[in-house]
Amino acid sequence: MMDDLDRIMAVMEAAFDPLWGEAWTRRQVGDSLTFPHTHYRLLTRDAVEPRSDEQAAGFTLVRAAPGEEELLLVAVVPEARGRGLGHALITQAVADARTRRAERLFLEARHNNPAIALYRRMGFEAIGQRKDYYQTSDGQKLDAITFALRI
Ligand SMILES: CC(C)(COP(=O)(O)OP(=O)(O)OC[C@H]1O[C@@H](n2cnc3c(N)ncnc32)[C@H](O)[C@@H]1OP(=O)(O)O)[C@@H](O)C(=O)NCCC(=O)NCCS
Repeated sequence: MMDDLDRIMAVMEAAFDPLWGEAWTRRQVGDSLTFPHTHYRLLTRDAVEPRSDEQAAGFTLVRAAPGEEELLLVAVVPEARGRGLGHALITQAVADARTRRAERLFLEARHNNPAIALYRRMGFEAIGQRKDYYQTSDGQKLDAITFALRI
């Protein structure tokens, strides 16, 4: 039977270009899910939670701390993109964080990730830069930008 870790990893493998070195391994995701403050959400391409026999088309992974949360990962499979699923997943993460009484949601993005346009449209503001944070598979170093959303 397919479990949620399988669903997350299927999306991870389809969504992230290996060049950028942003995808997490199965071990990293599995370990993070053993912590009670790590939360995930899955959506199908119809933007609902998958049934037990269904694949996911997108997921989010969030780390919650008192008052502040971090969107660790958001991903949608290429064939389901551009239809608002990424927006729906982030909206859901914001709502969950609000329910846990967080006041800010942070995320880190590679400076040239086109997802930044979506983050900005949703109200995230750049608050800092981390030099050479990502290393690409061909050895380039790329800065990360830290974004925050007041929720
Ligand atoms: C970022 C991501 C989750 C967005 O998912 P989505 O379902 O397409 O999101 P939406 O349909 O709600 O929004 C699409 C918007 O995202 C932005 N965008 C993100 N990636 C893009 C890309 N590769 N090319 C063009 N626009 C992109 C655009 O602003 C786009 O708006 P548009 O459709 O009006 O052009 C998806 O592109 C993805 O999985 N990317 C790879 C993984 C990744 O980089 N994740 C973020 C870092 S953890």
